[in-house]
Amino acid sequence: MAANNPERLPEPQHPQAFYMKEVAKLMADRRRGAVPMALVHTYGCQQNAADSEKIKGMLAQMGFSFTDDRERADLILFNTCAVRGHAENRVFGNVGALKELKRRHPSLVVSVCGCMMEEKQASERIRRKFPFVSLVFGTHVLHRFPELLWAALAENRRVFERGDEQEDARIVEGLPTRRGGKTRAWLTVMYGCDNFCSYCIVPYVRGRERSRQPEAVLEEFRGLVADGYKDVTLLGQNVNSYGRKLGRPVNFSGLLRMLDAVDGDYRLRFMTSHPKDATHELIDTMAAGRHISRHLHLPVQSGSNRVLKAMNRGYTREKYLALVEYARKKIPDLSLTSDIIVGFPGETYEEFRETVSLIRQVGYTSLFTFVYSPREGTRAAQLPDPVPAAEKSAWLQELCAEQEKIAASRCAGEVGRTHRVLVEGRSPKSGLLTGRTDGNVIVNFPGRDETVGRFADVKITSARDWILDGELV
Ligand code: 5AD
Ligand code: SF4
Repeated sequence: MAANNPERLPEPQHPQAFYMKEVAKLMADRRRGAVPMALVHTYGCQQNAADSEKIKGMLAQMGFSFTDDRERADLILFNTCAVRGHAENRVFGNVGALKELKRRHPSLVVSVCGCMMEEKQASERIRRKFPFVSLVFGTHVLHRFPELLWAALAENRRVFERGDEQEDARIVEGLPTRRGGKTRAWLTVMYGCDNFCSYCIVPYVRGRERSRQPEAVLEEFRGLVADGYKDVTLLGQNVNSYGRKLGRPVNFSGLLRMLDAVDGDYRLRFMTSHPKDATHELIDTMAAGRHISRHLHLPVQSGSNRVLKAMNRGYTREKYLALVEYARKKIPDLSLTSDIIVGFPGETYEEFRETVSLIRQVGYTSLFTFVYSPREGTRAAQLPDPVPAAEKSAWLQELCAEQEKIAASRCAGEVGRTHRVLVEGRSPKSGLLTGRTDGNVIVNFPGRDETVGRFADVKITSARDWILDGELV
């Protein structure tokens, strides 16, 4: 590719600066000076949302503005998720639906990127089924987006790029970021995952675990606080193993303390914590923190020891519950949330009921619940899976009904209490202000627009299932 041509070597200050300028020129020619428009469609987790903010940052530097209207777009990009089959099918459906638009707008550039595009079969399927897609790239080569877009435009060819071992191991700092919100921000502290839970595709599509240097995280964090962000979520597939490979005496608790020491009016969250690596030190750090939310997302996945073992989770139900007990002792008002998989291959109804009993015992604020989805290449996908899909769906319903009861009783217990709420905006339906408590529970209350983007003390007056209503104190 052009990067090997010495005359075209990118400028040293930013490896992609050359391509960004070239794309800007090409697009200006194509659009005869009008501002080119991009539509970025994001699927999946917060990490993907954070990646899309970088893609948008690079697009903005290349002169693009953004639109939600596909008729106005010069570039449509899908940032995809590979975690479950359902999300993948939606991508194929939504990409396929652009065929007609592309026929009417032949200059439209359609691009598909993200986790799914690190899977060979998925990217091959895009290549075969959708000849109008001109740029496909995986998560490992995200930092080379300008160069790849340039190749697709200037050389007028289809570009397909996935990571290799070397790229897999790298962290590229300094990519521009165009953040979606003004009050809440994502901050990636580490990439990849080494845990290989037997059902999960993530280690295959996001590669080996690697941490950013603490100085780089701190600098970005200071910038966010200075820019007025009030709620910063540190991101990683397993933040508790942060720093392990840095070869320096720093762990996640140390990083949290370092960030928490930054002065300012903000709240610090993190996700995801793997229970096998969540330590008492982490809980103690949360308890002692000045800005650290009393909220812990601690995905348990299952309440059955046999299933946990088959999932390769590295903890037992008892160990998980002991950690929860310690955390509740140190932080009595702690809000716990979790991810649950229902219908793992070979799971029996009795084993599923152990999950129900666990969620009752813990009393989660909320849950993300999923029916198991087989992912090609993972170990679980090879296991016998006799329970029919309809039965698994019924189990999921049963679990959700139980969680609704738990959440409703937790919320009812909030009435009369006062919470510090970060006000995020106005609900279009009710016209009320809406915000989140420290424990990440949504609260609606009447108030003035000036409150938006700030913290306010709100007294809870009533609870409807898992949503709270309140009034300003
Ligand atoms: N099927 C269903 N759910 C899955 N998750 C990860 N892989 C799968 C799968 N194959 C869920 C887990 C994880 C969350 C992000 O997605 O609960 O914590
Ligand atoms: Fe997947 Fe397990 Fe890694 Fe989470 S910790 S990304 S579930 S392999």
